[in-house]
Amino acid sequence: MRFKTMKLCLAWTLSLLPVALAERHTHIEASESSIKVLFEEVKQDWKLVAFVLPKEENSQALGKEWKTLLKNEKRINLSSLDCSANVTLCKQTFDVHSFPTIRLFEPSSRTSYRRFRGPKTAEAIADFYWRSIRPAVALVNEQNITEFQTGNNVAVVMHFGSAAPLREELRQEFISLANSYYGRSPITGVSFGIAEYADAEGKDKLEIECVNNFEDIRRSIGASEMLKGSTIEMLKRFVDECTAPLIPELTIRNELVFYQTGKSIVRYFVPPSDERKAYVKEMRLLAKKYQEYLHFVTVDAHKYSDGARAMGLTEGVTGLVVQQTSNGAVYPYRRNIPISAASVESFLVDIIQGREKPWNPQEQTGKEAHGHDEL
Ligand SMILES: *[C@@H]1O[C@H](CO)[C@@H](O)[C@H](O)[C@H]1NC(C)=O
Ligand SMILES: *[C@@H]1O[C@H](CO)[C@@H](O)[C@H](O)[C@H]1NC(C)=O
Ligand SMILES: *[C@@H]1O[C@H](CO)[C@@H](O)[C@H](O)[C@H]1NC(C)=O
Repeated sequence: MRFKTMKLCLAWTLSLLPVALAERHTHIEASESSIKVLFEEVKQDWKLVAFVLPKEENSQALGKEWKTLLKNEKRINLSSLDCSANVTLCKQTFDVHSFPTIRLFEPSSRTSYRRFRGPKTAEAIADFYWRSIRPAVALVNEQNITEFQTGNNVAVVMHFGSAAPLREELRQEFISLANSYYGRSPITGVSFGIAEYADAEGKDKLEIECVNNFEDIRRSIGASEMLKGSTIEMLKRFVDECTAPLIPELTIRNELVFYQTGKSIVRYFVPPSDERKAYVKEMRLLAKKYQEYLHFVTVDAHKYSDGARAMGLTEGVTGLVVQQTSNGAVYPYRRNIPISAASVESFLVDIIQGREKPWNPQEQTGKEAHGHDEL
């Protein structure tokens, strides 16, 4: 038998799976014939394949995640290939050089796969899977364009009119842009579409349109602007501007971006909850108004409680603080009036006009200032 049943692969933690879950999963020992069968399988459907050495610790750790995947992701087909039977074969056939390795095979007549890079957790692997199988660019028509534009967080549609074949170069640039967004996991929820129909008046308009349902932004640019200068740069800038959240969440990973612009930062520390959403909604207009000078951001008050303390706020609860990046001065909001767009704006105006004194950590009795904290 080429395929070992689950009961036989005791070395990998998957052996403990209930039978029902095992259906979407095959465990194969590497041999020329078993790989042939695997090739046939991957032609039919997307399939995640783990290349493992079941006796090794790292492969066993992945086994646990694989089990979680199988349990949580009912629509993902999985295989594990035990390479210990013939390591050379795995290396030669799949270009696998370390274990465990994860590949996502595409359903196609020729064998083609995507490499998984990143932390080998069930969550990250599932995220990679769903991002990978979504087509980068959808085709939209008159009947479903509205649904496309309202049903996605952010929808970017390129209208080619019916003259699409004449605009092949532009089309390729748009597709490659969509593909580049694709791999960036923080920007989930941006969908790209292509429309190829003449508009109601029968005109072949060339236009790119972006609808950002989170930020309530709707923008478009037409042919004259699109075709001047570097198209790909223009497309990229247009999409970046439309997709970037007006009030993003500040984390260790992205904070540098904000410092580099030299704008002052208005941080709102908030525990993970709907309060963040309410704040973003409340501040949207204000953030837009001061966009040129200020970054409005939210910060997870639990994760970065040290940062709140370092800026004169109480740890773990909601609080607002303005930081001038030019000189490092911080202004924690300590007024008795609740935080709202109006109260924050008057606070900002007082800071700008020098009526508000920056916070001095030394004034705090017995509390150390954590001046080195970034957030
Ligand atoms: C994927 O799993 C489903 C069961 O969820 C199964 O019906 C289907 O045949 C599997 N496809 C492949 C190629 O293994
Ligand atoms: C491993 O696979 C290679 C390539 O197919 C083959 O030449 C070799 O005999 C196999 N080794 C074993 C131990 O099966
Ligand atoms: C819109 O409809 C067309 C034609 O039926 C279809 O090919 C396309 O995939 C649909 N697009 C979306 C985003 O549903």
